[in-house]
Amino acid sequence: MPVLCVNIDHVATLRNARMGIEPEPVTAAAICELAGAHGIIVHLREDRRHIRDRDVHTLRKTLNTRLHLEMAATEEMQKIALEVRPEMACLVPEKRQELTTEGGLNCIGREQELADYVAPLHEAGIRTSLFVDADPAQIEAAAAIGSEFIEIHTGHYSDAKNHVEEKAELNKILRGIELAKEAGLLINLGHGLNYTNILPFARIKGIREYSIGHSIMARAIFSGLDSAVRDMVALVRSFDE
Ligand code: PXP
Repeated sequence: MPVLCVNIDHVATLRNARMGIEPEPVTAAAICELAGAHGIIVHLREDRRHIRDRDVHTLRKTLNTRLHLEMAATEEMQKIALEVRPEMACLVPEKRQELTTEGGLNCIGREQELADYVAPLHEAGIRTSLFVDADPAQIEAAAAIGSEFIEIHTGHYSDAKNHVEEKAELNKILRGIELAKEAGLLINLGHGLNYTNILPFARIKGIREYSIGHSIMARAIFSGLDSAVRDMVALVRSFDE
């Protein structure tokens, strides 16, 4: 059965909008855990626009489940990951001007560089994942890096403008899942998934984890965080292994 890990970056975005102390991301993480989330995901960006170092360190001390750190493949982030020891580090591309992560990591031609980057993390017992587009060449390159997991970027699928585009993007992801399985990679999915566009993955075997933030926080505004997380946990737990 796949699991749900909740990205709480948006709670920090709201807090930072007033430069104050509420809403508290650490409290949000505890509510997500109580509602059945399997882990908590935060993206510590270079510009610290939402999650801050203090959040990551506090979560490390307070979480009962797992801490997954999304991060750019920089020296600074490697140092922080080695200090904090998240259960998983997911490497993502990062651009200063982007609203959110806009595409997958480029692994092609960077196999050795990224293999060297993840090696100390593995030595420290941190599992790693590479956030990649559902592009066969990227998946092949990711497999050569030696990361245990990839997270297939579902953002192009969730952003599709019409049904035809959506189907084409879904098919790319489904082919990517097959390819990743053949390459021996473990597979997570994430970006832009919500309570309806996640449904086509229900009977797809081999997905380990869903990484979801925005749609859960959007629902939480109306129905509360506990209920929003419980709804998504129930969906994901009804899916095939
Ligand atoms: N996975 C990755 C790698 C991401 O960068 C994000 C956004 O921070 C997510 C998953 C979650 O995306 P969303 O907030 O659209 O659910």
